[in-house]
Amino acid sequence: MGEWWKKSVVYQIYPRSFMDANGDGIGDLQGINQKLDYLAGLGVDILWLSPIYDSPNDDNGYDIRDYQKIMEEFGTMEDFEELLENVHQRGMKLVMDLVVNHTSDEHEWFTNHPEYYIWRDEPNNWRSIFSGPAWEYDERRKQYYLHLFSKKQPDLNWDNPVVREEVYRMMRWWLDKGIDGFRMDVINMISKDQSFPDAIDGNSEPYFLNGPKVHAYLKEMNEQVLSHYDIVTVGETPGAATEDAKRYTAADRKELNMIFTFEHMNLDQHSGEKWDFKPLELTNLKKNLEKWQHALHEEGWNSLYWNNHDQPRVVSRFGNDGEYRIESAKMLATCLHFMQGTPYIYQGEELGMTNVQFETIGDYRDIETLNMYKEKREQGVPEEDILKSIHAKGRDNARTPMQWSDAPNGGFTTGTPWLQVNPNYPEINAEHITDEDSIYACYRSLISFRKTLDIITDGDFTLLHREDPELFAYTRKAGGEKLTVFCNFSENTRRVELPEGERLIGNYKALEENGELVLRPYEACAFLKKGSTLS
Ligand code: NOJ
Repeated sequence: MGEWWKKSVVYQIYPRSFMDANGDGIGDLQGINQKLDYLAGLGVDILWLSPIYDSPNDDNGYDIRDYQKIMEEFGTMEDFEELLENVHQRGMKLVMDLVVNHTSDEHEWFTNHPEYYIWRDEPNNWRSIFSGPAWEYDERRKQYYLHLFSKKQPDLNWDNPVVREEVYRMMRWWLDKGIDGFRMDVINMISKDQSFPDAIDGNSEPYFLNGPKVHAYLKEMNEQVLSHYDIVTVGETPGAATEDAKRYTAADRKELNMIFTFEHMNLDQHSGEKWDFKPLELTNLKKNLEKWQHALHEEGWNSLYWNNHDQPRVVSRFGNDGEYRIESAKMLATCLHFMQGTPYIYQGEELGMTNVQFETIGDYRDIETLNMYKEKREQGVPEEDILKSIHAKGRDNARTPMQWSDAPNGGFTTGTPWLQVNPNYPEINAEHITDEDSIYACYRSLISFRKTLDIITDGDFTLLHREDPELFAYTRKAGGEKLTVFCNFSENTRRVELPEGERLIGNYKALEENGELVLRPYEACAFLKKGSTLS
């Protein structure tokens, strides 16, 4: 099968917040249909849809009630088929979210096939990722079931072969409809240590992340399903180290094409707890991404991302969402898109959308945020401290509706949005994309370079200015060519050696002084040297 996904760029759509075509305040499939030219215009190759299946929405569709039905608020199966056809007509591909570590407790399996789930007479001390205990007592069975996420998301028992067969059957059903691949939700959690040991110091992860049979199950899935289709697969794998990543993604192991690392997303927190945030030290980010670039070079494949529906907006997080919002959004894009791997753009990133700061908890919708708030309030943590961490890290930062225009509600809906639009929509919206200096235009150029310059796909990676706390600079080399990328992550003006080659792209007009390259606040630029002799 082809490795076309190595030259592709993926765009993630969170359907609930993308575009509402019927005015009920919730995004839908017809809304996505209306915006396909916007996406094709950006040049992205693959659209990944967060779950669109029937769901009671305890976790916005990541709790699936029926894998083969479309969520009513989003439309019908006919709407889906129309969308798929329209995506293909524009030369793009469509990837679906596969959520099979757990289902909704409203899935008929939970009632009719309890043996598909994980039951114990006595719970252990594991905590749910969404707060509280990870086990819930069930009156009918007089036993506890495991739920690593909310209690409405019981974990499937992958050690039961019938569960695996059911999942593979469902996957084939979607692939036979013509979809182009899967993003696999927390796929490295499917195999648990069957002795269910108690967590030590609150840490149960060693017993369910990258568990004993996960590779065997993925190989089986590959053999029975994936290998029969020309598709792309990406696994969401919290807690996967580079050695795990090689096992998941090395081509000859026949498991997945790529995974999402979480390591670079965990650098701005103190402990294992995401809410306990601290400012990022750039040297940590550089060294972490360097490690992934080196480890998977010719041994696997990286995915590259700053954002998704679970992470705060990168321009607020690692950039500057005030005076230098536009510069820093382009700088972050430049930094990521010249690396080796498949880049993922999350809706609104190409507009430089920012975090939001709602004043009261009542304005938030995310179950992780709400459960954490309740638990911390019970522990006596002051409200304003909790709100501060929600402003920095909460998932609703990513989920506020797309800002299409300066019309009411950013043009997202004519109704009342399920989650308020970020009040900065009159200034930050998609009406600016025609401007050649827009963030969207920068993304479009970066995407087109990936199509024409093989060095971006193939080149090796060398970090420059390794200990510099403000500059992220690197070279890529392949076939006698050299690409040099400079990114200034600070407000300070810096001077560096002038790189070899022609300037490809930059977010300011080029400035050299006394034979040095001047890098202004959040400046980014890239240079390409063609030819055969390398220094
Ligand atoms: C990871 C998803 O990205 C997240 O949104 C979801 O809450 C959990 N998995 C549970 O499905």
